[in-house]
Amino acid sequence: MITKTVIPAAGFGTRMLPAAKAVPKELLPILDRPTIQYVVEEAAAAGITDVLLITNPDKRAIEDHFARNPALEQRLRAANKSHLLASINTLLEKVTVRSLHQHEQKGLGHAVLQAEQHVGDQPFLCQLGDTIFSSPLSTQDSALSTLLPAQQLTTAYNDLKTPIIALEKVPPEKVDRYGIIGGQEISPGLFKLDALIEKPARDAAPSQYAICARYLLTPEIFDCLESTPPGKNGEIQLTDALNLLLQRTAIHGVVVQAKGTTSATPPIG
Ligand code: G1P
Repeated sequence: MITKTVIPAAGFGTRMLPAAKAVPKELLPILDRPTIQYVVEEAAAAGITDVLLITNPDKRAIEDHFARNPALEQRLRAANKSHLLASINTLLEKVTVRSLHQHEQKGLGHAVLQAEQHVGDQPFLCQLGDTIFSSPLSTQDSALSTLLPAQQLTTAYNDLKTPIIALEKVPPEKVDRYGIIGGQEISPGLFKLDALIEKPARDAAPSQYAICARYLLTPEIFDCLESTPPGKNGEIQLTDALNLLLQRTAIHGVVVQAKGTTSATPPIG
């Protein structure tokens, strides 16, 4: 049973400037709620009860979004408008949200490493806080509805018991924007990996399958992160640590059913 998720949300959001200058990119709205609320809702729908946000001291507004606001709630109650906070308050009844600060921005791998103590010795979900997934089909029939990646990964873990990476196929001209996997498709949409390369040049990419913002990780990743040197852009890359982890354990990849959208780049495809 996977109960914890780690959500790295500490980056500067430079690709989203000037929109993300004062407002963290994870708080930019989609319809009526900030991006990161959808990410936590996806986790809660997969049975996660414990959420750890990795933020930085300039992004306290993210923590505020996940804290109750008694004065505001009181005002809304008096005006008969409590429904306006219903989605976030219902979510906060299902999950406990804590946060940790990454004081130096040394990359995604370094951000995940901050979670080591909190995670302990159990497998955990990792969701990048700027990417959400939506189902292309809207249907009443749950047997037909598309699973979001958190659910897909936790379900797959019950069978595979290995780390699992969410994958999305990207066009060849975009492989240099993503972590790209190499491996064998052992059943439709399920890969056994033999390589993970962060943002390869087009002619060095082992496939067109990109790592897409969701990971099911085991605690061995922390050892690997500790011995991962700075890689692409001088940052400690989670992809490089996973490539080290491949020497110790099998890693699988699952093609996601839902469509990913990130606040940093246009939708894949
Ligand atoms: C990160 C990961 C990369 C992954 C991408 C999208 O890169 O390092 O492997 O493909 O997210 O999930 P970033 O977009 O933060 O540069």
